[in-house]
Amino acid sequence: MKVLGLVCSPREGGNTEILVREALAGAEQKGAETELYLVADKNIGPCIACEACSAEGVCATDDDMQVLYEKLLAADGIIFGTPVYFINVSAQAKAVIDRSFAFLRHGKLRGKTAAAIIAVRRVGAGQVLGLMYTWFALHGMNVAGGGIGYGREKGEVRDGPGGSPGVTALDEARSVGRNVARTIQRMGG
Ligand SMILES: Cc1cc2nc3c(=O)[nH]c(=O)nc-3n(C[C@H](O)[C@H](O)[C@H](O)COP(=O)(O)O)c2cc1C
Repeated sequence: MKVLGLVCSPREGGNTEILVREALAGAEQKGAETELYLVADKNIGPCIACEACSAEGVCATDDDMQVLYEKLLAADGIIFGTPVYFINVSAQAKAVIDRSFAFLRHGKLRGKTAAAIIAVRRVGAGQVLGLMYTWFALHGMNVAGGGIGYGREKGEVRDGPGGSPGVTALDEARSVGRNVARTIQRMGG
Protein backbone atom coordinates (compact mmCIF):
# COMPACT_ATOMS: atom_id res chain seq x y z
CA MET A 1 0.00 0.00 0.00
CA LYS A 2 1.64 3.21 -1.22
CA VAL A 3 0.61 6.68 -0.07
CA LEU A 4 1.97 9.79 -1.77
CA GLY A 5 1.95 13.11 0.11
CA LEU A 6 1.99 16.25 -2.07
CA VAL A 7 3.05 19.58 -0.63
CA CYS A 8 1.87 22.45 -2.83
CA SER A 9 3.19 25.35 -0.75
CA PRO A 10 6.07 27.46 -2.04
CA ARG A 11 7.39 27.61 1.56
CA GLU A 12 9.68 24.68 2.19
CA GLY A 13 9.29 23.45 5.76
CA GLY A 14 6.07 25.45 6.07
CA ASN A 15 2.74 24.59 7.63
CA THR A 16 1.46 22.50 4.71
CA GLU A 17 4.61 20.40 4.75
CA ILE A 18 4.44 19.91 8.53
CA LEU A 19 0.82 18.72 8.24
CA VAL A 20 1.42 16.44 5.24
CA ARG A 21 4.38 14.84 7.02
CA GLU A 22 2.13 14.22 10.02
CA ALA A 23 -0.57 12.71 7.80
CA LEU A 24 2.01 10.40 6.21
CA ALA A 25 3.14 9.36 9.69
CA GLY A 26 -0.48 8.41 10.39
CA ALA A 27 -0.65 6.36 7.20
CA GLU A 28 2.60 4.61 8.17
CA GLN A 29 1.07 3.68 11.54
CA LYS A 30 -1.49 1.72 9.55
CA GLY A 31 1.10 -0.04 7.42
CA ALA A 32 1.50 2.26 4.43
CA GLU A 33 4.71 2.86 2.56
CA THR A 34 4.89 6.63 2.07
CA GLU A 35 6.62 9.23 -0.06
CA LEU A 36 6.66 13.01 0.27
CA TYR A 37 6.75 15.11 -2.89
CA LEU A 38 7.45 18.86 -2.71
CA VAL A 39 5.92 20.65 -5.68
CA ALA A 40 7.48 24.06 -5.01
CA ASP A 41 11.03 23.25 -6.02
CA LYS A 42 9.87 21.58 -9.23
CA ASN A 43 9.09 23.00 -12.63
CA ILE A 44 5.40 22.26 -13.17
CA GLY A 45 3.73 24.55 -15.66
CA PRO A 46 0.03 25.11 -16.30
CA CYS A 47 -2.14 23.12 -18.69
CA ILE A 48 -1.88 24.74 -22.15
CA ALA A 49 -5.07 23.10 -23.48
CA CYS A 50 -3.27 21.51 -26.44
CA GLU A 51 -5.49 18.42 -26.07
CA ALA A 52 -2.57 16.16 -26.98
CA CYS A 53 -3.58 14.06 -23.95
CA SER A 54 -6.99 13.23 -25.42
CA ALA A 55 -5.67 10.23 -27.38
CA GLU A 56 -4.01 8.21 -24.65
CA GLY A 57 -4.02 10.35 -21.53
CA VAL A 58 -0.38 11.30 -21.91
CA CYS A 59 0.54 14.97 -21.43
CA ALA A 60 2.86 16.43 -24.07
CA THR A 61 4.43 19.08 -21.84
CA ASP A 62 7.89 17.94 -20.87
CA ASP A 63 8.50 19.20 -17.34
CA ASP A 64 8.56 17.81 -13.80
CA MET A 65 4.88 16.89 -13.98
CA GLN A 66 6.01 13.86 -15.98
CA VAL A 67 7.70 12.54 -12.82
CA LEU A 68 4.66 13.37 -10.73
CA TYR A 69 2.35 11.58 -13.19
CA GLU A 70 4.34 8.40 -12.59
CA LYS A 71 4.17 8.84 -8.82
CA LEU A 72 0.41 9.45 -8.95
CA LEU A 73 -0.09 6.32 -11.05
CA ALA A 74 1.99 4.22 -8.66
CA ALA A 75 0.18 5.43 -5.52
CA ASP A 76 -2.83 3.74 -3.93
CA GLY A 77 -3.48 6.84 -1.87
CA ILE A 78 -2.85 10.55 -2.41
CA ILE A 79 -2.69 13.13 0.37
CA PHE A 80 -2.92 16.48 -1.35
CA GLY A 81 -1.65 19.40 0.72
CA THR A 82 -2.14 23.04 -0.14
CA PRO A 83 -2.12 26.33 1.74
CA VAL A 84 -5.12 28.64 1.33
CA TYR A 85 -4.21 31.54 -0.95
CA PHE A 86 -6.96 34.10 -1.45
CA ILE A 87 -9.69 31.62 -0.54
CA ASN A 88 -8.36 29.09 -3.01
CA VAL A 89 -5.60 26.55 -3.53
CA SER A 90 -2.05 27.78 -4.22
CA ALA A 91 -0.98 28.38 -7.83
CA GLN A 92 1.31 25.36 -7.49
CA ALA A 93 -1.64 23.18 -6.49
CA LYS A 94 -3.78 24.55 -9.32
CA ALA A 95 -1.11 23.65 -11.87
CA VAL A 96 -1.12 20.03 -10.65
CA ILE A 97 -4.93 19.94 -10.61
CA ASP A 98 -5.15 21.30 -14.17
CA ARG A 99 -2.44 18.99 -15.46
CA SER A 100 -4.41 16.03 -14.04
CA PHE A 101 -6.77 16.69 -16.98
CA ALA A 102 -4.54 14.30 -18.94
CA PHE A 103 -5.73 11.46 -16.67
CA LEU A 104 -9.39 12.40 -16.55
CA ARG A 105 -10.88 10.92 -19.74
CA HIS A 106 -8.91 7.75 -19.35
CA GLY A 107 -9.85 7.31 -15.69
CA LYS A 108 -6.25 6.81 -14.64
CA LEU A 109 -6.86 7.94 -11.05
CA ARG A 110 -10.16 6.04 -10.69
CA GLY A 111 -10.37 3.88 -7.57
CA LYS A 112 -7.43 5.51 -5.80
CA THR A 113 -8.02 6.98 -2.35
CA ALA A 114 -7.49 10.68 -1.72
CA ALA A 115 -7.57 13.15 1.14
CA ALA A 116 -6.82 16.85 1.46
CA ILE A 117 -4.65 18.74 3.92
CA ILE A 118 -5.18 22.48 4.16
CA ALA A 119 -2.95 25.04 5.92
CA VAL A 120 -4.66 28.35 6.55
CA ARG A 121 -4.28 31.45 8.65
CA ARG A 122 -7.93 32.28 9.18
CA VAL A 123 -10.46 32.16 6.32
CA GLY A 124 -11.25 29.89 3.38
CA ALA A 125 -10.32 26.34 4.40
CA GLY A 126 -13.89 25.05 4.10
CA GLN A 127 -14.20 26.27 0.52
CA VAL A 128 -10.83 24.84 -0.44
CA LEU A 129 -11.73 21.48 1.11
CA GLY A 130 -14.90 21.50 -0.99
CA LEU A 131 -12.88 22.20 -4.14
CA MET A 132 -10.51 19.36 -3.35
CA TYR A 133 -13.33 16.88 -2.71
CA THR A 134 -14.92 17.83 -6.04
CA TRP A 135 -11.62 17.28 -7.85
CA PHE A 136 -11.21 13.87 -6.18
CA ALA A 137 -14.77 12.90 -7.11
CA LEU A 138 -14.36 14.02 -10.75
CA HIS A 139 -11.50 11.55 -11.06
CA GLY A 140 -13.55 8.79 -9.45
CA MET A 141 -11.29 8.65 -6.41
CA ASN A 142 -12.49 7.50 -2.99
CA VAL A 143 -12.66 10.56 -0.76
CA ALA A 144 -11.08 9.75 2.60
CA GLY A 145 -11.74 13.15 4.16
CA GLY A 146 -9.55 16.08 4.89
CA GLY A 147 -7.81 18.01 7.62
CA ILE A 148 -7.29 21.67 8.33
CA GLY A 149 -4.47 23.27 10.30
CA TYR A 150 -4.57 26.88 11.47
CA GLY A 151 -1.37 28.93 11.54
CA ARG A 152 0.25 31.83 9.74
CA GLU A 153 4.02 31.86 10.15
CA LYS A 154 6.13 28.83 9.37
CA GLY A 155 5.65 26.25 12.13
CA GLU A 156 2.69 27.95 13.84
CA VAL A 157 0.49 25.08 12.82
CA ARG A 158 2.34 22.87 15.34
CA ASP A 159 0.46 24.65 18.12
CA GLY A 160 -2.59 25.52 16.07
CA PRO A 161 -6.09 24.08 16.13
CA GLY A 162 -7.45 21.71 13.53
CA GLY A 163 -10.73 22.14 11.71
CA SER A 164 -12.74 20.03 14.17
CA PRO A 165 -13.59 21.45 17.59
CA GLY A 166 -11.09 20.48 20.29
CA VAL A 167 -8.68 18.74 17.92
CA THR A 168 -5.15 20.01 17.27
CA ALA A 169 -3.94 20.50 13.72
CA LEU A 170 -1.33 17.77 14.10
CA ASP A 171 -3.81 15.25 15.54
CA GLU A 172 -6.24 16.00 12.75
CA ALA A 173 -3.57 15.54 10.07
CA ARG A 174 -2.42 12.26 11.60
CA SER A 175 -5.95 10.95 11.70
CA VAL A 176 -6.42 11.88 8.01
CA GLY A 177 -3.38 9.75 7.17
CA ARG A 178 -4.70 6.81 9.18
CA ASN A 179 -8.04 7.14 7.45
CA VAL A 180 -6.44 7.11 3.99
CA ALA A 181 -4.65 3.85 4.83
CA ARG A 182 -7.80 2.31 6.33
CA THR A 183 -9.84 3.28 3.27
CA ILE A 184 -7.29 1.72 0.91
CA GLN A 185 -7.41 -1.48 2.97
CA ARG A 186 -11.22 -1.48 2.94
CA MET A 187 -11.21 -1.07 -0.83
CA GLY A 188 -8.94 -4.07 -1.13
CA GLY A 189 -5.74 -2.13 -1.92
C1 LIG B 1 -0.48 34.94 -1.20
C2 LIG B 1 -1.08 34.48 0.09
C3 LIG B 1 -2.45 34.43 0.20
C4 LIG B 1 -3.05 34.00 1.40
N1 LIG B 1 -4.42 33.94 1.45
C5 LIG B 1 -5.02 33.55 2.61
C6 LIG B 1 -6.45 33.48 2.71
O1 LIG B 1 -7.18 33.74 1.77
N2 LIG B 1 -6.98 33.09 3.91
C7 LIG B 1 -6.20 32.80 4.98
O2 LIG B 1 -6.74 32.49 6.04
N3 LIG B 1 -4.85 32.80 4.90
C8 LIG B 1 -4.24 33.15 3.74
N4 LIG B 1 -2.86 33.15 3.65
C9 LIG B 1 -2.07 32.62 4.78
C10 LIG B 1 -1.65 31.14 4.56
O3 LIG B 1 -2.76 30.33 4.22
C11 LIG B 1 -1.00 30.58 5.84
O4 LIG B 1 0.11 31.39 6.20
C12 LIG B 1 -0.58 29.14 5.69
O5 LIG B 1 -0.21 28.64 6.96
C13 LIG B 1 0.61 29.01 4.75
O6 LIG B 1 1.02 27.66 4.65
P1 LIG B 1 2.55 27.28 4.30
O7 LIG B 1 3.38 27.60 5.50
O8 LIG B 1 2.52 25.86 3.97
O9 LIG B 1 2.95 28.11 3.12
C14 LIG B 1 -2.24 33.59 2.49
C15 LIG B 1 -0.83 33.63 2.36
C16 LIG B 1 -0.26 34.07 1.18
C17 LIG B 1 1.25 34.10 1.06
